[in-house]
Amino acid sequence: MARDRYTATAITLHWVIALGILVQLVLGLVMVHYPMSVGEQFKLYQLHKSIGITVLFAVFLRLFWRLTHRPPELPETMPVLERQAASATHVVLYLFMFALPLTGWAVVSASPFDIPTVLFGVIPWPDLPVLSTLANKHAAEAVLSYIHSRLAFVIIGLLALHILVLAALRHHFLLHDNILRRMLPRR
Ligand code: HEM
Repeated sequence: MARDRYTATAITLHWVIALGILVQLVLGLVMVHYPMSVGEQFKLYQLHKSIGITVLFAVFLRLFWRLTHRPPELPETMPVLERQAASATHVVLYLFMFALPLTGWAVVSASPFDIPTVLFGVIPWPDLPVLSTLANKHAAEAVLSYIHSRLAFVIIGLLALHILVLAALRHHFLLHDNILRRMLPRR
């Protein structure tokens, strides 16, 4: 029988990743642009790196789950173009959900300051090979940092698209079908 809801695991991972990315966006902007002491900035950078790597793991798990568990069908009433937009946005979102933490990790690896990453102050995390041994780390870090921050702005747009153009909310509130409820915990 076809499912009409995502599995509990898919729902949990979805909201953990969504929350993680939202926190990361705010944290990233604050730690880079908000004036603060070096000590506070250091702590926020470490937290940003820790949550970011956790999000990377969660995205890997989510993708694995997605590939091994069929998602619920979209309602037949949904126009083909909207279904295609929904699928395309999902694929692009996955790409960005990998690209963001990976480029962040690359920035840290190419940093000439060689500051160690210790996840949540407990787990030592390695730099990416190659990048950590580059001759011109300054230039590499600048390029990667630029890419990382631009990707962050693009994902803000994609998230808006995910919510609006996929019409999850519109379907829920205007057409009263099941789209949004499929990804909400059971009441
Ligand atoms: C998981 C998703 C992530 C999101 C949404 C995210 C988002 C952001 C944002 C919005 C900024 C500020 C960009 C700016 O205004 O210049 C930023 C900066 C930064 N992020 Fe991330 N980030 C993520 C993951 C990571 C990871 C995994 C790492 C490292 C392990 C990382 C390391 C950094 C660093 C070092 C900066 C500062 C770059 C600079 O000084 O220019 N990020 N991030």
